[in-house]
Amino acid sequence: MKIDNFVNKIIQWDCIENLKKIPDKSVDLIFADPPYNMQLKNELYRPNNSKVDWVFDNWDKFDSFEDYDTFCISWLKECKRILKDSWAIWVIWSYHNIFRVWNIMQNLWFWVLNDITWYKTNPMPNFLWTRFTNATETLLWCSKWEDYKKYTFNHKLMKKYNWDRQMTSVWQIWLCIWNERIKWEDWKKAHSTQKPEELLKRVILSTTKKWDIVLDPFFGSWTTWAVAKKLWRNFIWFEREEKYIKIAQKRIDSIKHEIEEASWVEEPKESQIKVPFEDLVKNNLIKEWDVLYTKKRYDKKAKILKNWLLEYEKTVWSIHKIWALIQESPSCNWWKFWYVFKDNKVLLLDEIRQKYIKQFITI
Ligand SMILES: C[S@@+](CC[C@H](N)C(=O)[O-])C[C@H]1O[C@@H](n2cnc3c(N)ncnc32)[C@H](O)[C@@H]1O
Repeated sequence: MKIDNFVNKIIQWDCIENLKKIPDKSVDLIFADPPYNMQLKNELYRPNNSKVDWVFDNWDKFDSFEDYDTFCISWLKECKRILKDSWAIWVIWSYHNIFRVWNIMQNLWFWVLNDITWYKTNPMPNFLWTRFTNATETLLWCSKWEDYKKYTFNHKLMKKYNWDRQMTSVWQIWLCIWNERIKWEDWKKAHSTQKPEELLKRVILSTTKKWDIVLDPFFGSWTTWAVAKKLWRNFIWFEREEKYIKIAQKRIDSIKHEIEEASWVEEPKESQIKVPFEDLVKNNLIKEWDVLYTKKRYDKKAKILKNWLLEYEKTVWSIHKIWALIQESPSCNWWKFWYVFKDNKVLLLDEIRQKYIKQFITI
């Protein structure tokens, strides 16, 4: 079947059956929030005898750990097949199974890039007073590659999103409550494990581009779809239970594209690629003994020596250190400050870097 038969359609699907119908290498990102297999046996009551609304759903029940492993292996294998080469997958799990599944994913050759801890600021208390309150879940972000040039990571965007500070792997986000929580007419929760939109927003913003295809094999209450639509991404979803399809009707009309946000989400792929200075020399885009100049007024000069070191006023150092010396500051983007004569033109080093990316790196 063609990928168009799946994209942006609302149909009830079982993912184990239907992932098989998706063509190879056709999806950019997968976010999966599978059944937790919590192995809950008895109902849970608060000290005042009221019943706790927790995950007692049939879809979370498996006969054994082996059963659960077989289930996970089958959908994870299909996910790997349908992801494009630049793929990434995010999977969220609780402590009940995270280490089983981490092991399975590594055996299937998923390369773990980060384990993000979702720290819930308003966790459900431990009503039995028998353990610490569990306040975290783990998201594994994996790619096919260890090499950062080959998967999407919108670093600058996420820094901007995080008040100009690098985002860490601990995400402090509220459990989904109040207006965000989808409810049936009787005010009961529509889905026991609805995830907060903020969580999905960080996942989608950080690792996709506009119009990418995002797939969620376990859709539940449509959180991934809602965020993907807001951020102008295409989506494919699978959800087995009919009752959750009805939630779509509630959510669909309320979701609008977030135009302002979408306008600052895009980061040109070229700007994320790190190019070692020496690669320009090794590939003859600049040469040993070429002279670099600062600004067009040529107020400072440095010569490129063997081993890609620079000589500046009798000091020999790496390009990073020489620039830091000139600037009297450790951090700088020297690509935008050095110029070089090439083919009778004065070129910014960054222009040569862009040329290198076009010629030698597949984006
Ligand atoms: C943990 S919930 C996902 C919650 C969702 N992320 C949200 O924010 O609402 C898992 C969902 O997977 C669905 N599910 C379980 N097995 C499935 C299968 N084989 N195919 C499709 N959906 C399945 C369940 O019905 C449940 O809604």
